[in-house]
Amino acid sequence: MTAKNIVDLYISFFKDKKHKQIPNASLVPENDPTTLFTSSGMQPLVPYLLGEEHPQGKRLVNVQNCFRAQDIDEIGDNRHTTFFRMLGNWSLGGYFKKEQLPWMYEFLTKDLGLPKEKLYITVFDGYKEIQKDNESVKIWEEIFKENNIDPKGRIFYYGADKNWWSRAGTPDKMPVNEPGGPSSEVFFDFQTPHDTRFGKKCHLNCDCGRYIEICNSVFMEYKKSTDDSLKPLSKKNVDFGGGLERLLAAVENKQDIFQTSLFNPIIKAIEIQTAKKYTTHAKEMRIIADHFISAAFMIANGVTPSNKEQGYILRRLIRRASDNLGSDNIYSILDSIIGTYKETDPQLIENYEFIKNTLYEELQKYTKLLIDVTQFIKSRYKKTGDELKGQIEISARDAFEIYTTHGLSPTQIKSLGLLFNEQEFAEKMKEHQNISRAGANKKFAGGLADHSEKTIMGHTATHLLHQAIRDVLGSKIHQTGSNITTERLRFDFNYDKKLTDEQLRRVEDIVNEKIKENLPVHFEIMPLTEAKNLGAIGLFDEKYQDNVKVYFIGNKKPYSAEFCGGPHVDFTTKLKQVRIIKQENIGHGQRRLYAMVG
Ligand code: SER
Repeated sequence: MTAKNIVDLYISFFKDKKHKQIPNASLVPENDPTTLFTSSGMQPLVPYLLGEEHPQGKRLVNVQNCFRAQDIDEIGDNRHTTFFRMLGNWSLGGYFKKEQLPWMYEFLTKDLGLPKEKLYITVFDGYKEIQKDNESVKIWEEIFKENNIDPKGRIFYYGADKNWWSRAGTPDKMPVNEPGGPSSEVFFDFQTPHDTRFGKKCHLNCDCGRYIEICNSVFMEYKKSTDDSLKPLSKKNVDFGGGLERLLAAVENKQDIFQTSLFNPIIKAIEIQTAKKYTTHAKEMRIIADHFISAAFMIANGVTPSNKEQGYILRRLIRRASDNLGSDNIYSILDSIIGTYKETDPQLIENYEFIKNTLYEELQKYTKLLIDVTQFIKSRYKKTGDELKGQIEISARDAFEIYTTHGLSPTQIKSLGLLFNEQEFAEKMKEHQNISRAGANKKFAGGLADHSEKTIMGHTATHLLHQAIRDVLGSKIHQTGSNITTERLRFDFNYDKKLTDEQLRRVEDIVNEKIKENLPVHFEIMPLTEAKNLGAIGLFDEKYQDNVKVYFIGNKKPYSAEFCGGPHVDFTTKLKQVRIIKQENIGHGQRRLYAMVG
């Protein structure tokens, strides 16, 4: 059974249960300032989990490409990857625990044929006002009994740190309006011996890797309220996520996911390229494979290496992979990655040249940077080239300066033969991380807390702006991207010239007129063909959608009709006013506008 077979089985299992398949969203989320990448299948569905109506109904299924930057440092073990594919099914206020858990067991044991005696379960142990999840325990006990398995010793309670799921983590970290809920995870027992370095006794969440979590059913029924308590959502949802790479590892009974049929060809290519063996260099090879896979997918999604946001993460991945590879010749590895994913992700082939050239240029820049940094140290310490071939002691301050200005990690700095006081460096690093973390938290809380107000205003303003730009520049213009934060909105569109001041003023005037007219905003769910006939604008993924949700601004003869999930303000005067503050050329025949709302 291949990874592709698992995807097909899963989708058809849930289609049989009346689920509609929804598209795999972009790896770089739109209109979500809270995060750089799509890191779970539920992320594009947040408005619907919070209560918006989904055009495809209450039962959804898909496979979503995900990237988790927080896992970068864990790469190198047997089960973590930064890029992975998540099988997801959702109930938006429809079925709940008593359907989800038996279906999951049926899929794992019948469709995938996993041995029943190797499956173990965790459930939520309660947190403050939220009770422990005895209901799921009862359902699991019934399931096991019906399948002639003794439930004793199979089901374990864990606290909110393991069995509560929200994008922010445990309930105390959830910002206002963030949805979350208790989860029940299934673990697969690879029956490998316990490694006591990870604790005296093995248990399901033990890091020795004997048990691996293969899927997670989240009962998303709460949201964080302004008084910091958890309040029930208007509807109870199911948010299921199953890691495809780990499910394949269970199917193939390979405790090391890098040895499954999915990763094996890539590891083989790395062995050939490096003339080393995986058995003795597993950690490096896992990092190389994982980081180049993520890099290829990011580039295919339009990310290019830079010093900020997504581009910075991509840069870090490429550099770390190349450090571990010890070479910039990555083409056979890239070919094996594309070969492995071609069936499920043709976008890699379609963007092959772009991926290859972007990697090539970045690796060239990196090589040059290493030379420049060495020269910088040489001039500061007045050392000769010969001396630099050995080792040279520099101050932790200089090492830190290299880190902050050039983005070289301490390991990379050391690999240049530059020595420094590592403890002093670590202290500076900690200080720096605390500052960045405070900024990141502010950003996260700001974006989501604002979900109910500023972001929603920005969202409606984007629709007005989209239509107004078409009024001024013509109907060939369409949105190619957007991003909304508390401070401003950003809007990208296909136009290869600079807008004149007069054009910008006209766009802004139209938007503000529509705001003053106090037009009502409402949505309708309708067949895709009807929406198209109405002239509604937006990206239609025809492969999956038969019904779409269209937001109208204005009644009778609406000013704007746009395909969108929502939410929006109810009347345009809520936006007060919109001011365009900047325009930019972002290349590929596209322009970007920034605007403030309110
Ligand atoms: N959102 C949950 C997860 O990411 C389940 O889909 O694990």
